[in-house]
Amino acid sequence: MKILGIETSCDETAAAVVEDGERILSNVIASQVDIHARYGGVVPEVASRQHILSIIPVIEEAISKTEWGELSAIAATIGPGLSGSLIVGVNVAKAIAYSRSLPLIGVNHIEGHIYANWLSRPQKPDFPLLSLVVSGGHTELVLMKGHGDYLVLGKTRDDAVGEAFDKVARILGLGYPGGPAIERAAIGGNPSSYHLPRAWLKGSCDFSFSGLKTAVLRLVEARSDLPVYDLASSFQEAVVDVLVTKTVDAARRYHVGQILLAGGVAANLRLREAMAQRSPLPLIIPEPLLCTDNAAMIASCGYYRLMAGKVDGWDLDVYPNLKL
Ligand code: KG4
Ligand code: ZN
Repeated sequence: MKILGIETSCDETAAAVVEDGERILSNVIASQVDIHARYGGVVPEVASRQHILSIIPVIEEAISKTEWGELSAIAATIGPGLSGSLIVGVNVAKAIAYSRSLPLIGVNHIEGHIYANWLSRPQKPDFPLLSLVVSGGHTELVLMKGHGDYLVLGKTRDDAVGEAFDKVARILGLGYPGGPAIERAAIGGNPSSYHLPRAWLKGSCDFSFSGLKTAVLRLVEARSDLPVYDLASSFQEAVVDVLVTKTVDAARRYHVGQILLAGGVAANLRLREAMAQRSPLPLIIPEPLLCTDNAAMIASCGYYRLMAGKVDGWDLDVYPNLKL
């Protein structure tokens, strides 16, 4: 069963065809990163206009190896994200589904990130499992006992972890997007050169990163000649330490069988390495390209929704603050 997935929640225009929720037949991503980099972050109106320009060529390329008649459904991200951006993808999905008389499936972007773990792997994840979702807008520990069955055990009380990476990169003058910039700057830096604060929030599965971000800001304000690579490395280590420790604790407490990582920050090599070293359980992480925004994950999630009979009507809307 082939599903066309469409993703336009932020600054990537993406379309993909995925078979049976797992085999990627195409995965096309048109990134707007160069356009937004000059503003130091995503400008919502610029993003929506860019989606309008890119969406049809991106879908055409994604569908080029598949006959339209082979598709079984159209899945599109409905939120969370920027409303003007989401509207572009959802409207195109509606038009295709309507004209081809195909089922239309609205997908939660965070759920999509988790489903990137079902793509291109010989063995599918097993329930119950714990998923750490770390992206630009979200930091959540999610207990999954079955498809579509989510219990959010903890979330960030302030900045999302990707947001903290982006803000600290700006403080250190490393540019946008901040996550990959910090990862690159941290190479060769000493991760224990600055002892930065870790918010453990003991007894809770919640996270907090704003104190850490402010600690970096105070250091830079006090002295402008500090070595950026040591600061970047110490910051990255503090983030990774908190994410890994709290995830491993929660996995033990909730007796899950596997740990999954998801979201753009899961592309971070230090996080992947530390989680692999310290996880007492089998660990699944999507390949880096499937951690950041893409439409294959939306098509995969759409497949499992379709299997559960969760099909939407023509009144499907976008939900910028959609929760799991
Ligand atoms: O999942 P994603 O592509 O979009 C959202 O749903 O937000 O995540 C984007 C976030 C950005 O904050 C970006 O800086 C961060 O993920 N990110 C990384 C890395 N690659 C992307 N953070 C740390 N290390 C990376 N290699
Ligand atoms: Zn995302």
